[in-house]
Amino acid sequence: MEKKKPLQADLEQMEELQNITQPFMQMLMEYQCAMEEVATKLKNLNEEFALLYNRNPFETIKTRLKRPTSILEKMKRRGFAVTIDNMRRELTDIAGVRVICSFQEDIYTLADLLLEQDDIRLIQKKDYIKNPKPNGYRSLHLIVEVPVFLSSGKLLRKVEIQFRTIAMDFWASLDHKLRYKKDLQNGEVIAAQLKECADAISGIDEKMQDILIQIEGDDEPKRKRFSNLEEE
Ligand code: GTP
Ligand code: MG
Repeated sequence: MEKKKPLQADLEQMEELQNITQPFMQMLMEYQCAMEEVATKLKNLNEEFALLYNRNPFETIKTRLKRPTSILEKMKRRGFAVTIDNMRRELTDIAGVRVICSFQEDIYTLADLLLEQDDIRLIQKKDYIKNPKPNGYRSLHLIVEVPVFLSSGKLLRKVEIQFRTIAMDFWASLDHKLRYKKDLQNGEVIAAQLKECADAISGIDEKMQDILIQIEGDDEPKRKRFSNLEEE
């Protein structure tokens, strides 16, 4: 996902936001900063991990700021008055980071290492890998709060992080297409086929992980050392 600056034109079309355009832009900027903070933390871990393990724990990292129209739509759908305070309080996905890993185990290693950092506060964790959604969706979701330092001082902002394997991401993008396709006649059949794929993919992720361990050996001691680096 590219960094998307909200279009001024988008904003001007929205009556509800006309009086709060400036604070709205300020809010988006704060979330943009929070998102970049989290992405940088993960990229730093990737660098260090690569040095120790000789491989990268993630393949890709993407950031996205929720579009103004989506923010408005969600506020209305959830029945909240459109104010900046309400957006900050009620929406946890204004800033989003998606981390795509090759191996399932790396998801947990990265998430743990991020959460160990003393300026990161975990707000919510949803483990759809251990407990997949009924449709087959798998990913680890974290909502964290991270400090952002601006001229006015320190602000705490929430960021939604989705960790997935390449296979889970491949599946989720096809499922996303299904979700947004209205009036599909064979929707149920397609959903059943997707569920089959989700199960197959889950098996493949586990096999790939097993193969990695056979090639590299069980790297549990290494991982422990990595987790303890700060104390040493
Ligand atoms: P939203 O209101 O949609 O943000 O969901 P939520 O508040 O119930 O949170 P949840 O953690 O379940 O989902 C957050 C995000 O994960 C969604 O916005 C999607 O990006 C992704 N997601 C969750 N479930 C699915 C799914 O079944 N399929 C796909 N493709 N993505 C999903
Ligand atoms: Mg969302």
